[in-house]
Amino acid sequence: MNLLITGGAGFIGSHVIRRFIKNYPNYNVYNLDALTYAGNLENLKDIENYSNYSFIKGDITNENFINQLFKKYRFDGVIHLAAESHVDRSISDPLAFAKTNILGTMSLLNAFKETWKENCSDKLFYHVSTDEVYGSLGESGLFKETTPYDPNSPYSASKASSDHFVRAYGETYNLPYLISNCSNNYGPNQFPEKLIPLFINNILTNKKLPVYGDGNYTRDWLYVIDHAIAIDLIFHKGKIKETYNIGGFNEWKNINLVKVLCNQMDEKLNRSKSSEELIEYVKDRPGHDLRYAIDASKINKELGWKPSVTFEQGLSITIDWYLNNKPWLKNITSGQYQNYYNKQYS
Ligand code: NAD
Ligand code: DAU
Repeated sequence: MNLLITGGAGFIGSHVIRRFIKNYPNYNVYNLDALTYAGNLENLKDIENYSNYSFIKGDITNENFINQLFKKYRFDGVIHLAAESHVDRSISDPLAFAKTNILGTMSLLNAFKETWKENCSDKLFYHVSTDEVYGSLGESGLFKETTPYDPNSPYSASKASSDHFVRAYGETYNLPYLISNCSNNYGPNQFPEKLIPLFINNILTNKKLPVYGDGNYTRDWLYVIDHAIAIDLIFHKGKIKETYNIGGFNEWKNINLVKVLCNQMDEKLNRSKSSEELIEYVKDRPGHDLRYAIDASKINKELGWKPSVTFEQGLSITIDWYLNNKPWLKNITSGQYQNYYNKQYS
């Protein structure tokens, strides 16, 4: 099997790559990544010399390049994770999200379609998406696979659009596809622009913890390796043309999560002064979705998946990883990161 994984140098992609390289030594795994600010080959240092792994630097929006790549390797399967992924960046630069997330996905779909034409019944295009396509929940209810799409941010609109194109190619060209929509991930190797790694870094460097609005926004958190396990299961056992929701059964209001994070950090760092004192309520994110929560009963019943760690365990492993990988964090937070930080939080 020649397997293309896009976005493998990013946060979730690197955990997916590691899992596939190790669990399926007979697959040739090709990691295609443009190495944007979010892509980091350091995330894959431990497996870069495996004989079944190859890295290809390239941009999914470059149609000619993508067509040539598919002609050369004739990928049997694609797991597509490459994307612009941060909501705040989508608010300041929506076009970049449309280009990568919509046009990039389409260029992969076109190349896949052209490579396999009518002979694609044993091939697979697996598109990794987000629960944000469903919009925002009120105080109750859960996102099901049948919940209508209602995206509110340029990021979620671009992901929703890419999901629609994948389904449209499935219907129009009979392309075998799978889609999964997952809740908020956390864990090692996450870029410190997202809530948990940003706040870990700020606690370490004694910076303020900028909580948007009143902090009463709710997210459903999943440990990244549990997402990688779900992707593996869906890729191998999912029903073609189906969608699977993946979630942690683990809802937290932001402010409560931040307090748990502060407590765990204080214990691990042996701090006498509470990091909670660093909490600062700041201007809200425009169009901020109130609540996300996933009904993951379909993947649980059909594929037997459920999260393998509790939130407290996953958070503790995550904090330990950042504490033990300070050079990784330092490399990332020097240079361009400071410009982003100053612009976003000034
Ligand atoms: P990330 O931002 O950490 O990584 C994205 C990767 O894609 C990077 O390595 C980047 O270099 C690469 N990339 C970006 N533009 C590219 C392009 N034009 N061509 C080739 N490569 C490009 O993202 P992540 O958090 O790991 O998310 C991965 C996927 O999972 C995304 O599709 C995202 O929408 C989805 N997702 C993320 C979460 C989450 O909580 N992080 C939850 C559900 C779904
Ligand atoms: O739900 C899945 C999605 O989760 C993924 O598709 C996205 O790629 C991923 O970025 C994530 O989106 P969120 O916007 O929910 O994640 P983020 O970590 O940016 O924010 C989580 C919550 O914390 C959200 O309510 C906004 C809030 N927040 C975030 C930041 C960065 C703050 O209060 N302060 C901050 O500085």
